[in-house]
Amino acid sequence: MKKAWILGVLLGLAVPGWVMAASGDDAIEYRQGLFRALKWNFSDMGAMIQERKPFDAARFAQEADRLAALAPMLGEGFIKGSEKSETVPTRAASELWYQRDRFDQLMQQLEEKTAALAEAAKHEDRDGLRPYFGQVAQACKACHDRYRERD
Ligand code: HEC
Repeated sequence: MKKAWILGVLLGLAVPGWVMAASGDDAIEYRQGLFRALKWNFSDMGAMIQERKPFDAARFAQEADRLAALAPMLGEGFIKGSEKSETVPTRAASELWYQRDRFDQLMQQLEEKTAALAEAAKHEDRDGLRPYFGQVAQACKACHDRYRERD
């Protein structure tokens, strides 16, 4: 026990400043980075679904897996202290912070729909995937309509 405690202290001293607790600005950058990663993958999938690009089942499945992995990480980026910032612009709507249960439900829906899409991508073809993709798009939009401010 004592050894573990001492080791903890030593490691603590060795940890650089940026490893310390996240600030509000860090949280805003974190969630925006995740949203951009979502969009990167989602746009490519959309191009395949809409037949603007040839359908590549393996790539689509990989991107669907990424969405399903990213979705459960997003909620963590909406911490206290990240409502507004002097330095990092955010489009999170002010309602989000006092309607947190509703917001979390919409996030939960995104998790469920991206998981369903990733599962379907293992066996469905493009036409079979279209409704699953549409449900994910709907989950993005449902939340943006309520909780993301316009540009
Ligand atoms: C539960 C709510 C919610 C869901 C679901 C959601 N978003 Fe968002 N999204 C937001 C909010 C809030 C912001 C604004 C974040 C900020 O600026 O701090 C945002 C911002 C973004 C941004 C802009 C990021 C930037 O550069 O600042 C993109 C792109 C984006 N979302 C894409 C998506 C995509 C694609 C999906 C679905 C696959 C999705 N979002 C699902 C709430 C959501």
